[in-house]
Amino acid sequence: MAEIVVCALEDLPPGEVRIVHAGEISVGVYNLGGELFALEDRCSHDDGPLCEGDFDLDEGYAVCPRHGARIDIRSGRALTLPAVMPVETFRVRVDDGLIKVELA
Ligand code: FES
Repeated sequence: MAEIVVCALEDLPPGEVRIVHAGEISVGVYNLGGELFALEDRCSHDDGPLCEGDFDLDEGYAVCPRHGARIDIRSGRALTLPAVMPVETFRVRVDDGLIKVELA
């Protein structure tokens, strides 16, 4: 199983997102009120750069900057059109102060 190091936990405070790249995969790691979630930076509608768009911390969704679909950051579920398929999510863990994402 491949794993990527994102950054130190202290460098991703609540309310922020960080995008990391590993080969052909890009992943957005969100800190939602102290909980960490990782979402593929690729919209399920038309491959838009999902994690580069706005996101709503309280509701926990990302807004695709290409056509505006809302994607649940926790589950990857498409909440609004034009996206209908889920976006891939990844397990996140903190190890010795570092945020790491497990790529399936
Ligand atoms: S590519 Fe994301 S809504 Fe179309």
